[in-house]
Amino acid sequence: MFILSLAGLSQHEKARAGVLYGISGMALALAATFWLTVQDAWGSEPGRAGLLVLVIAVLVGGAIGLWRARVVQMTGIPELIALLHSFVGLAAVLVGWNGHLAAPDLSGSLLAVHHAEVFIGVFIGAVTFTGSIVAFLKLSARMKSSPLMLPGKNAINLGALAAFVALTVWYVNDSALWLLVVVTILALGLGWHLVASIGGGDMPVVVSMLNSYSGWAAAAAGFLLNNDLLIITGALVGSSGAYLSYIMCKAMNRSFLAVIAGGFGIAAPTGGDADYGEHQEISAQATAELLSRASSVVITPGYGMAVAQAQYPVAELAHRLRERGVDVRFGIHPVAGRLPGHMNVLLAEAKVPYDIVLEMDEINDDLGKTSVVLVIGANDTVNPAAAEDPSSPIAGMPVLRVWEAENVVVFKRSMAAGYAGVQNPLFYRENAQMLFGDAKQRVEDILRAL
Ligand code: TAP
Repeated sequence: MFILSLAGLSQHEKARAGVLYGISGMALALAATFWLTVQDAWGSEPGRAGLLVLVIAVLVGGAIGLWRARVVQMTGIPELIALLHSFVGLAAVLVGWNGHLAAPDLSGSLLAVHHAEVFIGVFIGAVTFTGSIVAFLKLSARMKSSPLMLPGKNAINLGALAAFVALTVWYVNDSALWLLVVVTILALGLGWHLVASIGGGDMPVVVSMLNSYSGWAAAAAGFLLNNDLLIITGALVGSSGAYLSYIMCKAMNRSFLAVIAGGFGIAAPTGGDADYGEHQEISAQATAELLSRASSVVITPGYGMAVAQAQYPVAELAHRLRERGVDVRFGIHPVAGRLPGHMNVLLAEAKVPYDIVLEMDEINDDLGKTSVVLVIGANDTVNPAAAEDPSSPIAGMPVLRVWEAENVVVFKRSMAAGYAGVQNPLFYRENAQMLFGDAKQRVEDILRAL
């Protein structure tokens, strides 16, 4: 079921079925666990206690989960996911500690393997736990998204890894409790430091990286608990998260190691206060006139569309223009928004046909032949500095080359910078005009004018 779920989620048309497969797989796993516990409870006192704990945990956890899922805003999903990853990490730490305290009846090499499992499981789990908490704090703006720059931060990370390897060898030979305490503290610190030292623009990779870690943490717990399902599920999450990190790195033209070593989002020595001249403003009425004369329109949404919940009027605008014979398409940057696929989810929610939603690589070469590009709440993903200014902190990141179009209208509320904190020279280009205000209201104004 989980494999079918992943397969389904890789295509728009089958995504809904993919989610249903995932839910069914999880429901089956829970039902099987419940059934096994009930069987246990039949014959033994500890079994009955186990059933009681299970029922309480499912009721409490299920109630909190349902409540959170109902109240969470679409824009709050990334931080919620980061928080959920932290729970997987914490669970792996607890399972690891339990593996130490409830010493199994093993000897020789099997015992050594058990010790290695405990140690590695606790390490991965603790890194995931604090790393995800920092990601949660950064994504929810409770902590500054700029990178923590401790002196010798790479040496700290590498030193922590080397210490972990040495401690593992030690623990396998002499399973002293204090070693487990030390590795737990070491890993908690490493997880915190790893994510704290990554800058805003690299957060997409961090989210998918933590997704991957949470999978490996679950797989490690599966080895300890002798649970095949957990091992397989953990491996699926771990490897698909790793692949997603690879896709994200490719989308931002970064190497994985460069991301871990930090980079994007670090203030550039130049460019911050550069004088790009004056920007021009446009009204909703004038935008409507521009659109009614256009033969082709490309809409490039970004995080601001999610904040404004503008996807419904945007879908309506696309529909109206298409009825008038205008060629309308959407261009989606791989890291637009705050989650992989964030824009695709919003547009699918508003029933935009999939065949007009194109990826950056599919649309970039057509932008030069486009009459009007509507940049709806996007900023970093359409920043020409990435392509043209080697000193920019986001230099080298592929972006949507919207400035090549005949006209660009940028929907946002102010001249503020985007997530990476970098100024955007697009706003000052001759063919670009700013339409200030909340994206949803402005698109509705355009619809009325049309
Ligand atoms: P951003 O660079 O985040 O810029 C969004 C823009 O939307 C802001 O400049 C903001 O300007 C505007 N905005 C906010 N609320 C608005 C509203 N109600 N109406 C109109 N405009 C509004 O957007 P992007 O181009 O999508 O780039 C995404 C950034 O997030 C990248 O740096 C990416 O690396 C990072 N990131 C991505 C992910 C994933 S996986 N996608 C995860 C973490 C981080 P005003 O304040 O002036 O309105």
